Amino acid sequence: MTDVQLVELTVNGERHDLAIPPRRTLADVLRHDLGLTGTHLGCEHGICGACTVLVDDQPARSCLLFAAQVENATIRTVESLSDPDGGLSDLQRCFAERHGLQCGFCTPGFLMLAEGYLAEEPDATREEIREVVASNLCRCTGYQTIVDAVDDYASRRRAALQSALDAAPTTTAGSTA
Ligand code: FES
Ligand code: FES
Repeated sequence: MTDVQLVELTVNGERHDLAIPPRRTLADVLRHDLGLTGTHLGCEHGICGACTVLVDDQPARSCLLFAAQVENATIRTVESLSDPDGGLSDLQRCFAERHGLQCGFCTPGFLMLAEGYLAEEPDATREEIREVVASNLCRCTGYQTIVDAVDDYASRRRAALQSALDAAPTTTAGSTA
């Protein structure tokens, strides 16, 4: 039986070739092999959601996945959210402005949960957002401000999308490209 396996991972747009034990979790690979320590580990058995990342755009608990399972997937961690110059993304700014964090331990998980969820459900209502964020644990905030932050981001995201649509050149019926 081999102790290591060659695994190719694509994380935040970069490809990595790794020689790792077959049962190494995605969370451990991200944190310890790739140095992406923004992904936090709390319970390590699928309950708290602190380790949430996006796997093919879907929020997933990286403590429950073996890295080898996601070899052909596209993975995004919280580090992918910031601007190229290191500035906060709009989602992160909403968390800061709405006091959606206190100690911040749970925050990367909530950010990736919201990022994945709103990409799929841009018109989510506040009540739907409340249900979704209930899947992750936060011991500090009481959740209200997290719901505020995600709801605020959802509104800003819709407004930005609408202005982009309004600014797009219109095509006339019968016109050809
Ligand atoms: S550390 Fe993965 S769900 Fe808690
Ligand atoms: S801000 Fe401390 S656990 Fe959520």
